[in-house]
Amino acid sequence: MRSRTLCGGQPGGSVALNVIMMGPPGAGKGTQAGRFARERGLLKISTGDILREGIKAQLPVALRAKERMDRGELVDDETMVAIVRERLLRPDAQRGFVLDGFPRTVEQADALDQIVAERNNGPLVIVDVRVPEHELVRRLAGRLICVKCGANAELTKDGSPVATVCGKCGGELVQRADDNEEVVRERLEVYERATKPLVEFYRERPTFRVVNGAQPQERVAHELDTVIDDAALASARVEKAVTGKVATPEKAART
Ligand code: AP5
Ligand code: MG
Repeated sequence: MRSRTLCGGQPGGSVALNVIMMGPPGAGKGTQAGRFARERGLLKISTGDILREGIKAQLPVALRAKERMDRGELVDDETMVAIVRERLLRPDAQRGFVLDGFPRTVEQADALDQIVAERNNGPLVIVDVRVPEHELVRRLAGRLICVKCGANAELTKDGSPVATVCGKCGGELVQRADDNEEVVRERLEVYERATKPLVEFYRERPTFRVVNGAQPQERVAHELDTVIDDAALASARVEKAVTGKVATPEKAART
């Protein structure tokens, strides 16, 4: 039997690598999801970015969500599941994906399990990025984003921007609408109430991993790469034990 590779891009078929980047607001989900997806040639799906882009483009569905986002509340499950389902069925998601900001409720997690089962391609690796609350508040209070490309920038300790324009595209840097102190508090509370229960939902799966997000970005990146490869390997072993099929437990290819 011909072996399959994880997210391989290798001849002879490949198994997708599907990752959920979980964690509270400010944990670094977007930062790490973007990097990991780029390095592995996967599709990054950030539900917050999709909504913000939709607002910029004046899409009715995103404009309806805006009020809730500005208050730090969650957008309804039906809307979010429909957005993610549509993305995951696109051809460019077939090599695998990195989800940033989804799922955020048990209902969304149930829906994702169904979509992943329908796709029937590759393991679902769940990484919970943990950061203490005082550090989350510090990061979000100091964040700026580019109005044009959405890239992050940071304020200096005295509150002045490190740069006045985006280093990537030259766009204007502004504070995100939901990064003021009051809304950040609400987002953290909503996380505790609605999203943290997902840790219990996923904890017993062989592909659930925890990463210490309170380290320099390169260290977080290294830890993430290690645990994701390890979880994918564990999943390949389980698949082999259950089905007898070989999904080559190699490291996911770096592009
Ligand atoms: P979303 O855009 O997903 O926001 P969030 O979850 O609140 O998270 P953030 O984007 O603020 O943080 P992050 O973890 O991505 O961290 P980042 O990498 O930017 O959602 C926004 C809203 O949309 C929600 O409130 C909700 O209304 C709605 N929504 C979205 N998805 C939804 C869903 N599924 N269901 C319902 N509603 C939904 O990093 C933060 C900062 O820290 C940056 O400045 C970064 O440079 C810095 N940083 C990153 N890593 C490090 C590090 N290791 N050390 C120091 N600084 C770091
Ligand atoms: Mg983000």
